[in-house]
Amino acid sequence: MDNLTDDFELTGGVGIPCIGYGTWQTPDGEVAAASVAAAIEAGYRHIDTAAVYGNEQSVGEGIARGGVPRDQLFITSKLWNTERGYEKTLAAFEKTCADLGTDYLDLYLIHWPASEHQFEDWEEVNLATWRAMCELHQAGKIRAIGVSNFLPHHLEALMKTDVAPMVDQIEFHPGCMQAKTVEYCREHGILVEAWSPLGCGRVLQNADLGAIAAKYGKSVAQICIRWILQHEVLPLPKSVTPSRIRENADVFDFELSAEDMAAIDALGEFGGSGLHPDKVDF
Ligand code: A2P
Repeated sequence: MDNLTDDFELTGGVGIPCIGYGTWQTPDGEVAAASVAAAIEAGYRHIDTAAVYGNEQSVGEGIARGGVPRDQLFITSKLWNTERGYEKTLAAFEKTCADLGTDYLDLYLIHWPASEHQFEDWEEVNLATWRAMCELHQAGKIRAIGVSNFLPHHLEALMKTDVAPMVDQIEFHPGCMQAKTVEYCREHGILVEAWSPLGCGRVLQNADLGAIAAKYGKSVAQICIRWILQHEVLPLPKSVTPSRIRENADVFDFELSAEDMAAIDALGEFGGSGLHPDKVDF
């Protein structure tokens, strides 16, 4: 990858720009609109949002302000947990498109798996939702479909359908590697995307990462993003600060050595959100 618009290729052939601009926890209104426009101005062409972020209309406004033709952008959104099931998924998709001001999505994800903890028939619930996603994909309304926060046992049922998930977006950053899920995805041709690539800012004070950053003359945020890319995972950094938006995209003029990659891998667990897909109450 040499710049922001270089693609990973998804199963099925759709190209996805290798760094996405994240919008989780970006306040609705002018902040979201201005920061999405700033990201597009800085060269990002991949915008990641979700219905539950509550900012899709403002993200859509920012996309419009960015002034880049729709077919040069890659827009992802996610189906919220209250909208699972075949009929509700179809309706939620329409609402998301209307709010974003687009008539198609590049990628639509099931935000969290229905799990055993909340549903006796959790596998059927996920399958019914997935059936709607497949139909929307078939109809050309979504270019690629996938999931988020799915562990291998959640993915398993969907792998047997006509169209397997092309993406799994999970928490992934130094201190949170989810090795089993990443391995499963790799074996099954599913691209892993990293939410909270900076651990929501929690990993930025880590002294070991600081020492590596100093060696390369880069910030800890840039080290995290580069480390994720070198793992062939797609980072989705979030910032509402124009200088940081640019900084997080400036990661193509250096390469972490194999030794430093391994040193970051070996840091152990820290800075994680603690959200477990089989335990969350939403
Ligand atoms: P802000 O949005 O106020 O600029 P993550 O992407 O892991 O969710 O992390 C997002 C958090 O990290 C936000 O609080 C964001 O702050 C902060 N952040 C994003 N990029 C940088 C950066 N380059 N340096 C320092 N903090 C950053």
